Amino acid sequence: MNVLVGCTTVNGSTCEIAEHIGARLAEAGVTVDVRPVTRVDRADGHDGFVLGSAVHHQAWLPAAKDFIRDNSTLLRFRPVWLFSVGMPGALRGPWKGPHARKNR
Ligand SMILES: Cc1cc2nc3c(=O)[nH]c(=O)nc-3n(C[C@H](O)[C@H](O)[C@H](O)COP(=O)(O)O)c2cc1C
Repeated sequence: MNVLVGCTTVNGSTCEIAEHIGARLAEAGVTVDVRPVTRVDRADGHDGFVLGSAVHHQAWLPAAKDFIRDNSTLLRFRPVWLFSVGMPGALRGPWKGPHARKNR
């Protein structure tokens, strides 16, 4: 199986996590291609997908959403696993409070 581990990042941590995921899949015998989704030439060359994005303003980054939208027909018929990278402490308003209290 040939799996794309595609990432979208601003400061690098989402692609670092993608590298770790790719390494674990490779240990399990999976052929992996880890790269930013903006550098994927042909999505249809992959049998499965692990896709992750940093979260900004409670949403995936535009390039990650574009990749999903542009390849939605293909992704509907292949196994897909998604992950999000965020920092709840960065949230404003009611979402920040419970997290801050939990981690005191
Ligand atoms: C402008 C901005 C908005 C953010 N908004 C959120 C958010 O809504 N929710 C969240 O959990 N983290 C938020 N974060 C935190 C980032 O998701 C976090 O720093 C993440 O590690 C960034 O990943 P990256 O290093 O791959 O870019 C925000 C960060 C920035 C700079």
